[in-house]
Amino acid sequence: MRKRLNDEPTTVPTTTRRLGSRGTEELRRLPEVRRVRGPRPRVLESSPVHFTEEVAAYDDMIRRYAWLLNKPFVEMLSKLNLERGRVLDLGTGPGWIPIELAKRKPGWEIWALDASADMLAEGERRARAAGVGERIHFVEGDATKLGFGAGEFDLVYSHFVLHHMDRPEVMFNEAARVTRGGGKVVIKDLLRQPNLKTRFLLWFSKYVLRYSELQMQMYEESMDAALTFAEVREALRRSKLCMAKVSAFRGLDFVVES
Ligand SMILES: C[S@@+](CC[C@H](N)C(=O)[O-])C[C@H]1O[C@@H](n2cnc3c(N)ncnc32)[C@H](O)[C@@H]1O
Repeated sequence: MRKRLNDEPTTVPTTTRRLGSRGTEELRRLPEVRRVRGPRPRVLESSPVHFTEEVAAYDDMIRRYAWLLNKPFVEMLSKLNLERGRVLDLGTGPGWIPIELAKRKPGWEIWALDASADMLAEGERRARAAGVGERIHFVEGDATKLGFGAGEFDLVYSHFVLHHMDRPEVMFNEAARVTRGGGKVVIKDLLRQPNLKTRFLLWFSKYVLRYSELQMQMYEESMDAALTFAEVREALRRSKLCMAKVSAFRGLDFVVES
């Protein structure tokens, strides 16, 4: 069962929908969307960590649509004024981002952390095949409870992970703690959109990008779990990144930079 965080006054009774392919026969209650006008209510994903069949589905999505999903973020990070340094990726998934960065930035040593052993195995295999396995350390861990000391990294970044967090400020605090004074934190994620835009994006993903049924489920769950601008600002205000700047990224995502 997905966990609803905030009920909006415009929300109408929920409907049930059977979602079989995330490994269970469970019935999940999803918001009835037709009559909701503003942003949909925030609903956390049932399992924030990805397992085998989702790893393949996610990997396929970012391989086919890297230009849309991951490449813009890699380009943004590549432009940072950091030629040598220790870099931490929180929630690395199948390692596409650290592999691209390691290829572009020979002076970076990257720690790629994820809570999913399946994602890490895929990342490790691909990093070796790309010839950058020596400079990427794949680490199993929790982005809200990092096993690193204070100020160990020059750059800490995260992409499409914050929406997994019940309390985003905890991840903000951990990112701030392990970044050295004068270092940089960059966190990008999906923005939870108004209902009509969400429905358009789902339509586009299904009929234009041709996402599979599982990819559609993962995308819809991620969008429903994402934060609005107001929620990001409120979480930042409560955290050690209270001075960070938050901005829109192509109307679909937000970026926190500190
Ligand atoms: C949508 S994927 C994003 C992967 C990658 N950053 C990218 O943009 O391609 C989210 C990843 O966050 C991981 N994750 C979720 N909660 C986590 C946590 N608390 N600590 C570490 N990783 C987490 C999941 O296992 C998954 O691999």
